[in-house]
Formats: sequence, C-alpha cells, structure tokens
Amino acid sequence: MRSKKTFSGLLFGAFCLELLVSFSATGQESNQFKHAAVVTAHPEASKVGVAIIKKGGNAVDAAVAVQFALAVVYPNAGNIGGGGFLVYRSKTGQSDALDYREKAPEKASRDMYLDAKGNAITDKSLYGALASGVPGTVDGMVKAHTKYGKLSWKRDIEPAIELAERGFPVTAQQASELNSHKERFLKYNKKAIAFVKNDLWKEGDLLKQPELAKTLKLIRDNGRKGFYEGTVATAIVNSMKQTLGVITAADLKNYHAVWRKTVSGKYKNYTVISMPPPSSGGIALITMLKQVGDYPLNKWGFQKDSTVQLMVEVERRAYADRASYLGDPDFFKVPQAALLNNDYIKSRTDGISFAKATPSSEVKPGTLPLYESEQTTHYSIVDSEGNAVSATTTLNGSYGSLVVVDGGGFIMNNEMDDFSVKPGTPNMYGLVGGEANSIVPGKRMLSSMTPTIIEENGNLRMVVGTPGGSTIITSVFQTILNVLAFGQDMQAAVAAPRFHHQWLPDEVFVEKGAIDDTTRAKLESKGYKITPREPMGRVDAILVKPNGELETGADPRGNDKGLGY
Ligand code: DON
Repeated sequence: MRSKKTFSGLLFGAFCLELLVSFSATGQESNQFKHAAVVTAHPEASKVGVAIIKKGGNAVDAAVAVQFALAVVYPNAGNIGGGGFLVYRSKTGQSDALDYREKAPEKASRDMYLDAKGNAITDKSLYGALASGVPGTVDGMVKAHTKYGKLSWKRDIEPAIELAERGFPVTAQQASELNSHKERFLKYNKKAIAFVKNDLWKEGDLLKQPELAKTLKLIRDNGRKGFYEGTVATAIVNSMKQTLGVITAADLKNYHAVWRKTVSGKYKNYTVISMPPPSSGGIALITMLKQVGDYPLNKWGFQKDSTVQLMVEVERRAYADRASYLGDPDFFKVPQAALLNNDYIKSRTDGISFAKATPSSEVKPGTLPLYESEQTTHYSIVDSEGNAVSATTTLNGSYGSLVVVDGGGFIMNNEMDDFSVKPGTPNMYGLVGGEANSIVPGKRMLSSMTPTIIEENGNLRMVVGTPGGSTIITSVFQTILNVLAFGQDMQAAVAAPRFHHQWLPDEVFVEKGAIDDTTRAKLESKGYKITPREPMGRVDAILVKPNGELETGADPRGNDKGLGY
C-alpha cells in the first residue's frame, strides 16, 4: 500500500494543487485509464507526466517533463548527468529511436582502467569522476522536443524546477537508499550536497535541490547550451579537475544525441519495436521472442520446467552473441542484419536439448552467415491521441559515479563501466565483452537497455521497459511473454517473480517465488545451477486493451506508479 504521506507533501503551488484535485476525481489506485497513462519509478514524476498531457502536451512533451522530473525526484537513476534511449511510436504507426547514450571522453583510452600488470582495477570504472562518460540526456531531450514536442520547452521543464526548488517528500525506500550511500557520498564529495544530511533520512523528509534548480533554469532558458556550455559546463569541467576526471569543455560541446532507426521483428502476430545498437536490448529481445514463438509455452505452463528451460537456453545464446557482436555501430561494424536473420535465429536453437542443460562453455557466439562485422529507470507513456514513448535512462550504478557536480547539483554517471574494460573481464553486471565494446574516445558503451513498443495488427498494444543492468533484456522478455503467451494482465505480468540467465556466469538467477520446488528439482537434475538473488528490474509498462483502454503495470519492487485519466 502506498503511504498517504507521499502525497501530502505535494500541497504546494497551483500546479500540484490542480493535480491533486484531478487525481482524487479519477481515483488514485486505479490502473485502468481511458485517455492517457504514464508509468514511472516515482509517483511525483508520473503526476508531472499526466499533468503535461492534460495541458495539451503529447507523449514526447510528457517524456521530456518526466525525464527532468526524475532527475529531481529519483536521483539514483533519473538524471541530467547520464544518458538513455527513447523509442517513439506515433499514433499513425511511425517509429523512431533516440540515442542519448553517454560517450567516452576524448582523453579516454582502451586500457585506462588497467593496472601496470594489465589487470582491471574495477573501482576505477565505477566510482569517482573517471567513471563518467560525456552525458547525453540534455541534448537528447532537446532533440526529442524539437522533433516531436507540442508544448513549449519551458513548459515541459518547469515542473522539475518546481520540484527541485520546493523539495519533495522522500519515500521510505528512498530514505533508506540515501542513508546507505551516505559514507560513499561523503568520500566522493568534499562540499555539502543535497543528498547528505547530518542525521539520517526518514520517510516524508523534504529533499530540496536549489543548485539543481539553478541548473535546470539555465537549461530551460538556453536549451542545450545551458548545459554543454557556460557555467554548467565549467562546473562539470572543474569538478573533473578536482577529482581526476577527464571530461573536457570540448567533449561537452561536441556531444550530440542521434536519431536511429528502430529494430523490429515479428513475434507471432505482434511486431516488436525496440532500441538498436548501441543497445544490445532490441536485437537480443527480438531474437529470443522469435526463438520461443513456435513452442507451446502456455501448454507447458507458466514458470514450469520446459518453459524455464527453453527461455534460459535462448537467453544463454543471446547473451553469448551480445558479448562478441554488439557495440557502438558508429565504431564497430555490428552484424545487425545477420543477427536478425530468421535462419540464423532458428539455427541458434538447434543444439537445445530438453534432456539436459547446455553448459555455457559449449555455447560460443554463433557463426553468422554473413559477418558485416543496477541503477537505471524506465518510463512508459501513452498520450490522449495514442502516441507512445518508451524510454530508459540511467546513471548506470545507483547514484552513478557518486560525484555531485559542485555548483551544478546533479550526479554524474559511471557509465564507462559498461565498456569492456578488458576482454573477458566481467563488468559490474557480470557481463563480458571484447573488441566490439572496447574503449575508444567518442564511442558509446554497449547497453542492455530495452525500451520497447509492441504492435498487434498495426495497432499499439504495449509499451514496456525496465532497469536492471544485464537483467533488463530478460525482464522485458518475460514481461512480454507473461502477457502475450500466458494471458496475464499488465500489473500481474510486471509483478510476477523473474528468472535470468546471461551465458556467463553459467547460472540461472531466480527471484523468490519464481520457480517452485518441483520445477527447481527437475531443472537441477538436468544440470542447471539455480541461484537465488535479490529483486531484478523495475518494469513499468502500459497495455492497450482490446476496448482501447489503457492498463498500467507499475513494478511493486519500487515506488513505481501508474497514473492517467
Ligand atoms: O546501459 C546499461 O545496460 C546499464 N548501464 C544499465 C544499468 C542498470 O540498469 C542499473 N539498474 N538497476
């Protein structure tokens, strides 16, 4: 149950007052909406998104407003110092993909995280200024707004400024996360920062971010120049100098988000539209959905042994391919067409045996027919006209590099760890990689973020995505199957316990309750190593029901909230 306190702190300003009135009229706890829906990791950000649509904004206006609001109310992952991916589908069925992923700074180099003996110094790519890529979020939002926005840029960013200036009440979960990071924040920040209090945070305490409000006003008034040039850029560069980072003024000035062509593929009679490289998510998701599409999953049963076995085996193979073939397409010739070739996809399932597990040591990346060579957050939006946005944005780890830009009030990412710092050495998510994802100045690090939109017979059916590092792709995969193969409603599909395999390590990670004792025993007898682990992902999704109504799924693993009208 959600605490009423979460909402009481909002009694400020005409903007929020108006929201409260409209929400009490529609009922706060419903997840069914006639016109529009917004699902995000924080109730305040969801409210901002719905308010923008009610003011006449479209899904992209709402996305811009939500992205900036999350930078305020969800500082673990919401950001302006990070990056992300946004998949858009217009009401008429045109789709577009925005890549605002961070880039390696010009002074980055292939071995920058290795010691003299050539071993990876993992903390170096994870904490402190050297862990940061050049942030992409602000330019991404400017590009999204310029191409598709309807309301003014100022209008879209204003709610975030209000939240930063006036403060918002932290949830119980946020209080505990801020408290658990206190020591680390103190280690990486010499000056006082908004996220550290003398005493401990408690649920309902107001988090005010005046420095961040100032930065957001500069972005409001000057667009991309408000961030990539001028006082904010200088603050970033100064903060880099103080903490051994390498991002320069030129890196910032030269950063540009790019529009890319979505990847798409068929699963049964559905079309899956997702993010292309530099995310690995879209290709892996489409591959796995196609591979399970011909099997009677529903007959085998939800999370029963054959179902789990098949899903684990296709996951194993998709992640093996990810490790070798996927990287930034601007730097590495990604064999996208070959990976999505139907014959190749089918051939990858040839070795699957239902009698026993295939050891990962026996699964190498496939031979392509033609070689063309944990914190993030997701939001899903459908506006009143039927335009949809699926966006995943990140600082990488919780609170990114932990460095708060002095004078800027925002946290810098630690996305450099998503590169393969040394071939075969696992990153913080245990993912391995090689040449395709090596560090090169100006290159984007490979991602697992999988913002996805699904169509059925040309109509919008689902908007879905999640954080979760390496578990993102498999969480999206399962959520989609939970609805389309197992007939669950959106909320149940999002809440259902999940499991995950990523080739290496050769283990099936399971959330509590994902696999019953009988299924577990059967899988173990076939050679699967089953390892319990903490919750995976926070899926936020919207389903369009046959009658056109919108049903939200907000992950109960977090404070996520679906709202609409
Ligand atoms: O882009 C990626 O794949 C990672 N940086 C995502 C990190 C993430 O999801 C952490 N969240 N729990």
